[in-house]
Amino acid sequence: MTTKNVSSTTTASRNLERAARIMERCDRLARESAEVGKISRLYATPELRAARDLLEGWMREAGMTTRIDNVGNLIGRYAADPAVADPKTLIIGGHWDSVRDAGRYDGTLGVLSGIAAVGGLHEAGMRLDAAIEVMAFADEEGVRFHTALLGSSPIAGGFDPAWLAMTDDAGITLGEAIRAFGGDPAAIPGDARAPDDLLGFIEVHIEQGPVLQERDVPVGVVTGITGSARAEIVFTGMAGHAGTIPMSSRRDALTGSAEFILAVERVGRSVEGLVATVGKLDAEPGASNVVAGRTVQTLDLRHPDPRVRDRAVAALKGEVEEIGSRRSLEWTWHDSPCFAETPSDPALTGTLREAIEREGIPVVELFSGAGHDAVTMAAIAPVTMLFVRCKDGISHNPAESITVEDVAAALAVLDRFAASVAAQV
Ligand code: GLV
Ligand code: MN
Ligand code: MN
Repeated sequence: MTTKNVSSTTTASRNLERAARIMERCDRLARESAEVGKISRLYATPELRAARDLLEGWMREAGMTTRIDNVGNLIGRYAADPAVADPKTLIIGGHWDSVRDAGRYDGTLGVLSGIAAVGGLHEAGMRLDAAIEVMAFADEEGVRFHTALLGSSPIAGGFDPAWLAMTDDAGITLGEAIRAFGGDPAAIPGDARAPDDLLGFIEVHIEQGPVLQERDVPVGVVTGITGSARAEIVFTGMAGHAGTIPMSSRRDALTGSAEFILAVERVGRSVEGLVATVGKLDAEPGASNVVAGRTVQTLDLRHPDPRVRDRAVAALKGEVEEIGSRRSLEWTWHDSPCFAETPSDPALTGTLREAIEREGIPVVELFSGAGHDAVTMAAIAPVTMLFVRCKDGISHNPAESITVEDVAAALAVLDRFAASVAAQV
């Protein structure tokens, strides 16, 4: 065996060890949850804080200084080589909130890969010509306030103060939740990150689709992220006795919802590439012997073309109006913030492609139907993403599964990518 082979074997086995540590840490984070035996880590909850404490400890162990901003994001910084005057910064990001009954890798893989990349440099006593910041976002999924990307929005200067009045299911406002989580809502604008020194933003994320598995490659490069719209729709009818109100005189909010949900499915199926989902429905008062007087349902609608999204949203508003008037239901439609389709930055993505090629991995390009923090971060930095193969493309589900070998491949690519981005300054 040549020296070169010995050293690449050593690197490969070292990467497997680092990847194994990431997998263990994902398992450890999975224990910080609102529900025993399930992973549910919503924004500004005790379990989110407990998981953040773990991440902060791991960041410090990897040689980073850490800080927490007003919405509760955790930011670790690993300084550049002190010989470099006015160093630039590469951001490696991820989120550590989750959906309800989630898998253990969505989001956390990005944060932990960033920590591992910095940890590798720290252990080797190395500094790059650029600083690295690992940004752990406190909310990406938007489950608690039905608004995604609440963590990265302030950093990217895209936080709308009107959002502070949004309420969760318990009627707690976002402003109150931020305060209870240790932040000052009035100070959020000051958390915006100046773009001047930023070289780029990268997130390592599970694919959440089957392409990499089908193509038999561990990682792929993301060409862009779809655009999305969310809304909350409320139908109000009249609650009453299920045994005594004749069918002909009911104002049943839940049957209105049933029609709406089917309309969402119909509209979603009507255009190639459009997806539309009602993922949450609450019926009140919620008893088997009471006609539902009020329902609250969500809409999540995605397509890369904003005209398609706008037309679909308009069609569904028309459906709500028609259902409401035919069934004598009052209704409200509340739009949540929308997110524009976001292409990956060509130059940064070129550097990522090269890093993949130099690892001897065929370059597979993917478009993301899932939303990611790169959408907001694109306002302040060039963005790109590295996807990691996940079993059968399953995500937002406890069955999410990845392999240690694929994580090791992603780390090797990320190390190369960070080194070459830093060397380009
Ligand atoms: C986040 O995973 C989203 O796409 O909603
Ligand atoms: Mn995610
Ligand atoms: Mn997700």
